[in-house]
Amino acid sequence: MLTQKIVKVGIIGGGLMGRELLVLAGRWDALIEHPVRPVITAIADTSDSAREFFTKAGVSESYSDYKQLLESKNVDVVYIAVPHNLHQEIYLAAINAGKDFLAEKPFGIDLNAAQSISDALVGKKNFVRVSSEFPFYPGAQAALKEVKSGRLGEIVEVRSGLLHSSDIDPLKLINWKRQKKFCGEIGVLGDLGMHAAHIPLRLGFRPTSVFAILDDIITHRPDAKGESIVCDTFDNAVLALRAKSSESIREFPMFWEMKRIAPGEINTFYFTATGLTGGVRFSTRNPAVYQTFTLKDGKQIWSEIQPGYNTNWPVVTGHIFEFGFLDALLQMWASFLAEREGSLGDRFACASVAEVLDSHKVFAAALNSHQSRGQVLIA
Ligand SMILES: NC(=O)c1ccc[n+]([C@@H]2O[C@H](COP(=O)([O-])OP(=O)(O)OC[C@H]3O[C@@H](n4cnc5c(N)ncnc54)[C@H](O)[C@@H]3O)[C@@H](O)[C@H]2O)c1
Repeated sequence: MLTQKIVKVGIIGGGLMGRELLVLAGRWDALIEHPVRPVITAIADTSDSAREFFTKAGVSESYSDYKQLLESKNVDVVYIAVPHNLHQEIYLAAINAGKDFLAEKPFGIDLNAAQSISDALVGKKNFVRVSSEFPFYPGAQAALKEVKSGRLGEIVEVRSGLLHSSDIDPLKLINWKRQKKFCGEIGVLGDLGMHAAHIPLRLGFRPTSVFAILDDIITHRPDAKGESIVCDTFDNAVLALRAKSSESIREFPMFWEMKRIAPGEINTFYFTATGLTGGVRFSTRNPAVYQTFTLKDGKQIWSEIQPGYNTNWPVVTGHIFEFGFLDALLQMWASFLAEREGSLGDRFACASVAEVLDSHKVFAAALNSHQSRGQVLIA
């Protein structure tokens, strides 16, 4: 029996995502022989009611100023889940305080911010990774392995995306995610883009140019008083990219799609790659299965496989049970904390700073493409 090392975790930003971390720490026993056990020791949030959720659950340190949390000796690792306009300031402060952290995407409000955070890490010992949980679904892991197997042959095309409809109601109240000054000029690209980018970038599919259509569908939303407020972020983005892989000199088409208004979709992450001799597709719309493509006796065959609860980090959960979003978050945290401990082995690692920086280069070029209505090369 492995003795688990306690890792004291502080959360900056106790909103939607911060709360999820508190809850998943309570499910840690699902993981078999994980080297560490996270204990949530501190919360920092400017909102009293956000902090109250944590203190009621027994989190002992509560701060309205995140700097106090970063000074706490009772915090080894920080999870930073705040609006995008605060990423640069708080990530830089965490780096300077010598803390390891799991950052939220998009890792800075724009490319310049992401670059400055990345630059600040040069020569530093902080262990930093970026949150992106969808690749931890068993079907997504299987899709990654299928592409890596080489069975696809020459890549024909790659598609990935995240589609939801959280903003389909024009009367939904305005929030920070719908305003450039908080969310960023890249809008939905910063909000959902890393979900589309993560698997392609991990597979080494390097975007070389982009043609983007960015769409601001709902331009005004009410605030709590019923006043109409400008809602100036892009809701939807469709990116047509040229991409290269190390296996081929040819550039192949790659499509990334990120939508906050995708009628009929609640929260669909998907990845599809097809080649001359094989293919694979996975979607959280039907998360219990993934499909592979083969050619046999001149016939084109898509086969459906149920991966079961077959996870990156082993678990006590029965392999016949269904896997969901919260399980993906648990797997992401298991990966982050195991890698920090040097115990991840060859298991799938969380998104790296280099990967998120590469995603930002695509998003900056996409914004440029949208404005110029033309194709833009990606440096
Ligand atoms: N990985 C994912 O699937 C996923 C999903 C949703 C959001 N996110 C990302 O997580 C981050 C947070 O998003 P969210 O949906 O949790 O937002 P949220 O609005 O629900 O929560 C943000 C919290 O930050 C707090 N906050 C604001 N200013 C602060 C400050 N100066 N110091 C401390 N706390 C402060 C707010 O009071 C709020 O409680 C964003 O980067 C977002 O893109 C990731």
